[in-house]
Amino acid sequence: MTVSASPSIVAERALARVDLGAVERNARRLRRVLTGGAVLCAVVKAHGYGHGAVACARAARRGGADWLGVASAREAAELREAGLGGRVLVQGALTRDELALALSVDADVVVWEAVGADAAATVAEAQGRRARIHVKLDTGMGRLGTRDLREAREVADRAAADPRVELAGAMTHFATADEPRDDFFPAQLARFTHWAESVRAAHPGVLVHAANSAATLRDPSSHFDLVRCGIALYGLDPFGEDPLERELEPALSLHSYVAAVKRFEAGESAGYGRTWRAATPTWVGVLPIGYGDGWRRALSNRADVLVGGRRVPMVGTVSMDNATVDLGPDTAVRTGDPAVLIGAQGDERILCEEVARRLGTINYEVTCGIGPRVPRVHCGA
Ligand SMILES: Cc1ncc(COP(=O)(O)O)c(C=O)c1O
Repeated sequence: MTVSASPSIVAERALARVDLGAVERNARRLRRVLTGGAVLCAVVKAHGYGHGAVACARAARRGGADWLGVASAREAAELREAGLGGRVLVQGALTRDELALALSVDADVVVWEAVGADAAATVAEAQGRRARIHVKLDTGMGRLGTRDLREAREVADRAAADPRVELAGAMTHFATADEPRDDFFPAQLARFTHWAESVRAAHPGVLVHAANSAATLRDPSSHFDLVRCGIALYGLDPFGEDPLERELEPALSLHSYVAAVKRFEAGESAGYGRTWRAATPTWVGVLPIGYGDGWRRALSNRADVLVGGRRVPMVGTVSMDNATVDLGPDTAVRTGDPAVLIGAQGDERILCEEVARRLGTINYEVTCGIGPRVPRVHCGA
């Protein structure tokens, strides 16, 4: 049986709408909480956590972000090519070629050993410029950075004495800032504070920084001179809760539409492997979005979607290009009706944090995972 179509208001099979006004307001909100003259570095790595790096960088700048943070040299180059000036911090590890690219686009880089600082100095000299470096102390994250306080101090002192290098920053990164009641965060903060204050005393003007979004919202004593915020900029909650409770506005919503509506009799199944069968007669809607778009297969039979202003369960196995929802026995939904997978419709909303919980992951991974096939439509600029 077929159902007559209502006019489609959805332009694409799947699209992510990104409200740049929300990004700007989130940047402003973060700036408002900063203490002691700290400035905001807007972290726009990984395509702005899937939201679009350049557009979000511009929105964050409008909201008062002074710095931009990325993970790779290519990401820094992309910002420069788009005409974004100002300070850009490349936070990730860099091969020699990547270091050369980062410095050539006038980005700041992170080092933690003498060999890294020397490489930055040599490459910068060959380019006829000075390398701006940030020395990273690993206070417990166990990733990049030296754990050795003395080594970190020596790298900083050597850099400060080297005319090819500017000692721009002293930094660390927290492992558990998003776990409000843990005692590791204060321990990391104490270890860093002690070291950073001694570096600052020896080298006035060095920028001290440590906080990500969770630390920024959790503890003003982690603000120092600069905070590096990513997730909160996009209106997502670093603690995995409702962002609105921290006055953050989710910027991204994920949309599709009902491409077909079909009658299912009891026992009929939808999708690969027949993982769902209608218990009683019902209507099933087909949404042209799947794991090829980043709507993960693990959401099969586990997610809700908003259609016709209400929540309906996603049923059957999510395939690469399609997913199915149970519209119920008396649905008014018609072919062409919009579907919201993340975001609001009517009085209902589905938060990215909800999708993350259903997947057993974090909101970061949900938006980063929205694939390149899904156009990002930026609005609210
Ligand atoms: C070194 C560093 N600083 C800051 C951030 C931003 O963190 P968040 O998105 O939690 O604000 C990240 C992101 O993972 C990071 O790796």
